[in-house]
Amino acid sequence: MAGEADLTGRGGLRLILLGPPNSGKGTQAGRASERLGIPAISTGDMLRQAVAAESPLGNKVEEIMATGELVDDDTMADVVRERLRKGDTRRGFLLDGYPRTLPQAETLEAILGERGEELDAALLVEVPEDELVARALGRGREDDEEEVLRERFRVYREKTAPLIGYYEERDLLRRVDGDRPVAEVTSRILHALGVATQDAGRSGGPAHAASRSRSPLASQPLAASERALAAGGRSGSVGAAGKEARKR
Ligand code: AP5
Ligand code: MG
Repeated sequence: MAGEADLTGRGGLRLILLGPPNSGKGTQAGRASERLGIPAISTGDMLRQAVAAESPLGNKVEEIMATGELVDDDTMADVVRERLRKGDTRRGFLLDGYPRTLPQAETLEAILGERGEELDAALLVEVPEDELVARALGRGREDDEEEVLRERFRVYREKTAPLIGYYEERDLLRRVDGDRPVAEVTSRILHALGVATQDAGRSGGPAHAASRSRSPLASQPLAASERALAAGGRSGSVGAAGKEARKR
């Protein structure tokens, strides 16, 4: 099954980052993707760039984004399909902000299916809501204004949170405690993927991803890393018990 012993066995690593607004998905996508040697693809950033460029896509989504609602699934399918056609995704990708609805999850599955690929893991960055609000105050993005932020939380709970169960059922969900210093969250993400993390917190030179990730991922089964995390006693990090039980 995807995501078990050898995540790079099929020649790549296909990941998504799930989590509420301001949970740190963008921050972690950049850091983890650098370590893993796969591109971070943020649909939010792509849409904001389209808005700034006043492209047809930008004009279409500007108002929706300003209210905190989701752009429609068909538009997002086009955006993601086109982006995933680029050659840099050949060895995988880390999607930040997609999928966000059940139909989007199905679309992603279909796109990957057409490529003969599967998702390897869905990383859920968990942060308490009061911390999410505090982070918004510190950032000052337009859609962090209180009313819009509240709407983004509502939309997350209604449309995106069901994806947690969707990926849990497929044994792909990896829970990561996002209420930690940035470098520690990165370590936890890499650990959840079975990547050695001694230096995960360093911001130093770019890691050569594909080669670096290949051997740890290949040599360290996910279940082992999950057991290590669970043994460390951090609740909410990894849903290892159920996964282990199901595998037996
Ligand atoms: P998007 O840009 O994806 O927004 P979001 O999910 O609401 O997430 P954010 O980007 O606000 O937060 P983040 O989790 O990336 O956190 P960040 O790293 O920035 O989407 C925006 C809009 O685009 C949507 O509302 C929708 O309209 C549209 N859209 C996008 N994708 C779509 C899709 N698939 N379908 C339909 N519509 C779509 O961090 C947040 C802050 O916290 C920063 O200030 C950061 O410095 C700080 N921080 C990060 N980590 C930590 C930490 N560990 N400790 C303390 N502070 C931290
Ligand atoms: Mg973001």
